[in-house]
Amino acid sequence: MPIAVTEFSPVEQTAFLTAYARALDNRAPTPILTDEFSERVVGLIDYDFAGLRIPANVVRQTALRAKMLDQRVRDYVAAHPDAVIVDLGAGLNEPLARVRPPAGVDWYSIDLPRVIALRGALLPEVAAEHAVAADLTAPDWAAGIPVGRPTMVIADGLFAFLSQAQVVELIGAAIDHFGTGELTFNDYGKVGALSSLGMKLAPRGMFSLLRQVWANPGFSDPHTPERWDLRLRLVEQACLAHAAEVDAFPGPARAATRVAGRFKALAGRARVLRYKF
Ligand SMILES: C[S@@+](CC[C@H](N)C(=O)[O-])C[C@H]1O[C@@H](n2cnc3c(N)ncnc32)[C@H](O)[C@@H]1O
Repeated sequence: MPIAVTEFSPVEQTAFLTAYARALDNRAPTPILTDEFSERVVGLIDYDFAGLRIPANVVRQTALRAKMLDQRVRDYVAAHPDAVIVDLGAGLNEPLARVRPPAGVDWYSIDLPRVIALRGALLPEVAAEHAVAADLTAPDWAAGIPVGRPTMVIADGLFAFLSQAQVVELIGAAIDHFGTGELTFNDYGKVGALSSLGMKLAPRGMFSLLRQVWANPGFSDPHTPERWDLRLRLVEQACLAHAAEVDAFPGPARAATRVAGRFKALAGRARVLRYKF
């Protein structure tokens, strides 16, 4: 019997949004990510997923950014087989199953207590994975995570739901705790007036959910986080519009994405940013 999630807050429900987007990608004739796990998870939850009305471009973006983040984690653990991976706002995502890190890697998946409890009910136990129930805006979320090992902190879809001040504090707390490592996250650039208006006017579906919880105005210049915390150094900006996978998008989407990719401001609206600290 599917698990009831009626008590989930709007911000917790955003985990259903990205999981369903990955499941929809998995159903496509040529999936970008191929994440059967999300498909299974969605089938086990009693939620009106279809009511989210996720547009095809959001499905593609969600799958592609996950694939791009996975690749960066794969590269990191190949270079550091004893790494600690810290997934902030892990939701119901299971990149560990896609990345398949070496045996020496420890993987910490952090989210709010209700989401972590649901993960526990849905996900098979994996020795390398440690689930942490914590509010990432509280001071001591990192307390139990080991230090002194190569560390990669990732966040897929989290920062939009925190204010800029909370993101700055969270990044600072991660650097204070881990000392050195990498931080990689997906980013939407600066949220424009049109996107805000679209969210405001949406009568239902994913945008009316997002309207309730979107808290971050975003930024255009990828160097901005370096000014938040002087210990950060930008090492990569990878725009989704420039990814090879775009060649396999359906015709009109491929053309529109390639055109967007020629304009810095448009390309920067869907990107993966990577920093060293
Ligand atoms: C859009 S979902 C992304 C989930 C997952 N990373 C994915 O790609 O499917 C955002 C996640 O951030 C979590 N989140 C939001 N605010 C949080 C906070 N203050 N502390 C911990 N997790 C939080 C939500 O519960 C949700 O699971």
